[in-house]
Parts: sequence; C-alpha cells; structure tokens
Amino acid sequence: MKTIIAPSILAADFANLQRDIEMINNSEADWFHVDVMDGAFVPNISFGFPVIEAVKKHAQKPLDVHLMIVKPQRFVEWFAKVGADRITVHYEACTHLHLTIQAIKAAGCKAGVALNPHTPVSVLEDIIGDLDLVLIMSVNPGFGGQEFIHNTYKKIADLKRLIQGVNEDLIIEVDGGVGLQNIAKLVSAGANAFVAGSAVFATENPTETIAKMKQLTNNSVSI
Ligand code: DX5
Ligand code: ZN
Repeated sequence: MKTIIAPSILAADFANLQRDIEMINNSEADWFHVDVMDGAFVPNISFGFPVIEAVKKHAQKPLDVHLMIVKPQRFVEWFAKVGADRITVHYEACTHLHLTIQAIKAAGCKAGVALNPHTPVSVLEDIIGDLDLVLIMSVNPGFGGQEFIHNTYKKIADLKRLIQGVNEDLIIEVDGGVGLQNIAKLVSAGANAFVAGSAVFATENPTETIAKMKQLTNNSVSI
C-alpha cells in the first residue's frame, strides 16, 4: 500500500502560513494534517473554520482534519464546507460514533477514528468495516513536540489483526512524535500514514526532511 506523509500545520509558522503551505505543496508530502483543538477535549486551543478555509484556498493536497473536540458531530458539515477531505473524530469524544461516521460520509468526506494512547483498538471491532482510516495517537493529544509512546507498535499490530479479512484497505495513521528516527519501524509494524509536525517544521530544510521520510517509508517493508 502507498505510504502517506501528512505534515501537521500545527507546527507551521502561522505568521507565514501561506509560505509553509506552498512548501508542502511543492514537497513529496501527500496530505495536510489539520489539528483542531477546543480547549475541552484537550488542554489546548488551536484554530477553527476561518483558518482552515484560508489553508484550503492555497492547499493543493487533501486536508486531513483531526478533530480534538467534544461532540464533533455538531460540526461535521461545517468542516466539510470549509474544505476537509478527511475528517477524523476521537472515539473518546463520541457517544454515537456510528452516527458520526455516517454523517462524515454523508458530508462527502472520508471518515476516520482516532484513539488516545489508553484506548485499545478492540473498541473498534464493531465499526471497523465502516472506517476509511484509524488514527493511532502516539502521544497524548493537545500539543506538538512530545515524546513518542512505545506501546504504539503493539497497537498497530493489534489493528492489523483487527482489519484482516474485514477492511484491509483501511489506512493506519500514526500521530505524535513521528520522525526520521522511528518512521521505518512504524512502516514495518504496519502503519501506512504518518503525521509529522515538529520533525518537519523544526528542521532546517523541511522539504528535504519530507523527502527523507518518504524515502524511508518506501524502503521499509510492511509485515
Ligand atoms: C497532537 C497533534 C499532532 C501534532 C504532532 O495533539 O494531534 O498532530 O501536531 O506533532 P509532533 O509531530 O510534533 O509530535
Ligand atoms: Zn493530529
């Protein structure tokens, strides 16, 4: 399966957002990862609709919108309207996850579910066939630049098993603390989409870092 690199604009320079968007456009990156935080589900607030709308105007690649907000079903149509191509909601934030996933699809977007580090993949057993993507959080959501949680490898393996014979095209995305140092091992574990914030934007040459990440994923063999 093709591997996806999704730089997180949370780590971009917001005063030079258009410049950073163009950098991603002209790089080997595949998606824009867009982190929305509400100060309730996570202890941080990032940005909302006007910023996403502005990003969409310049982005030449799909917007992978990660909603770290309570009751995300309230805003599914709004996010679709401002340009989300993929919408990922947190399992922990949805009482009616099935309904929320249907709403995302009805709005014309691909649907994903994110799991916090403490949430086992087994909770997705009865909905896995309906999903386009599962986002495994490899840090506690809320901030960029945190240390990668090692148990993620086991969770990827568990998810690989869960999708077998049911939804083998499902995208397994990893978010938090991903960089050149662990991306190959994550591919070997079975992940195929990679969010990277600080690993991309805190380097001298982000375009080159993205190219290196892409190369490492292409050279690694998924099991
Ligand atoms: C964390 C966000 C991540 C974040 C990753 O809550 O969901 O997408 O931007 O940042 P890094 O790659 O710096 O860990
Ligand atoms: Zn994210």
